Amino acid sequence: MSHRIFNFSAGPAMLPTEVLEKSAAALLDFQGKGFGIAEVSHRGKEFEGVLDEAIAKARSLLGIADTHDVVFLQGGATALFSIIPMNYLHTSADYLVSGEWSKKAFAAAKDLGKVNAVASSESTNFDHSPPANEWKLTDGVDYFHVCSNETVHGHRLPTWPKHPNLVVDVSSEFMSRPHPVNECALVYGGAQKNLGPSGLVLAIVRKDLYPKQKKLPSKLWSFKDLAENKSMINTPPTFSIYILLEVFRWLEAKGGLAAMEKINATKAGLIYDAVDGSNGFYKGTVSIKEQRSHMNVTYRLPSEELTDEFVKTAAKQNMIGLKGYRTVGGIRASIYNAMPVEGCKALAEFMKDFASKKS
Ligand SMILES: Cc1ncc(COP(=O)(O)O)c(C=O)c1O
Repeated sequence: MSHRIFNFSAGPAMLPTEVLEKSAAALLDFQGKGFGIAEVSHRGKEFEGVLDEAIAKARSLLGIADTHDVVFLQGGATALFSIIPMNYLHTSADYLVSGEWSKKAFAAAKDLGKVNAVASSESTNFDHSPPANEWKLTDGVDYFHVCSNETVHGHRLPTWPKHPNLVVDVSSEFMSRPHPVNECALVYGGAQKNLGPSGLVLAIVRKDLYPKQKKLPSKLWSFKDLAENKSMINTPPTFSIYILLEVFRWLEAKGGLAAMEKINATKAGLIYDAVDGSNGFYKGTVSIKEQRSHMNVTYRLPSEELTDEFVKTAAKQNMIGLKGYRTVGGIRASIYNAMPVEGCKALAEFMKDFASKKS
């Protein structure tokens, strides 16, 4: 591919070129069979092979134990944060409200039952995740929901909390580092940041939750039925799952999640160093440094005008998707697994150059 630019979009986001090339080839002709992978039955041996390998690779990359199932769903992570309370909210559930996405998950659950916000950082525009010593946890809740990386605000939980029934929205940091999935009740994420195309969701569900499921209007939303039917109650998004498989193969070739974690720390460090070394020209938006996300790096410039100029000038230098979310403003550089170190180096250099000309 001749012309790939550095795309810092928050999601849908950059995918590895190799993955795109292999997926494009399989779309046209799967293993030399004269048909593409999106053109054959999901019950046929070709797609079943793809699905089996995708599940096996998810299990091995994340080290998932037999206590948990791997399930694919559709409708994005938004569908999931409604489906989870539909299944498991009986008495009440705790939610950590640390940003735009956990706030949305909290609101969705509120429509379905009793929920408690254990803490919220909304009064400071979600500039951090409330630390554990501020949480007012409730005994005996059905589950405790957290978002491990707040995509909009650029902070993450450096380590995931411990709770007997922890539910984690991991969308914007899925497989960017090892995750303690076996210690969780349910982990879910939309694919469009680190794993593949939008719409597809990967969920890891602890099997002992199944007897606690409520009666649902459709099996499509039942984790138990999905697991029992290998996520094929109806036709799954076959091509999206194929792309995900290519991403898993790519991740394995890169050395797995521990290796990704190191690369991602290096990448994020390059940009945070440019922020911290700018004599205050750039200001990080996250107030607790240890919580700075390694996936979504957020910072502001001295004025709106300079921010606009920064975004426009960067685009001319082949760096796009840098504008921050409207409620936060400034810049957001999303640097998921597929963003090469060179992309972060280029951005850091550009930042230094821009600051030296404008300050
Ligand atoms: C952390 C997080 N959760 C949930 C969502 C919602 O995902 P979707 O648009 O796939 O429903 C997003 C989307 O950006 C997200 O970043």
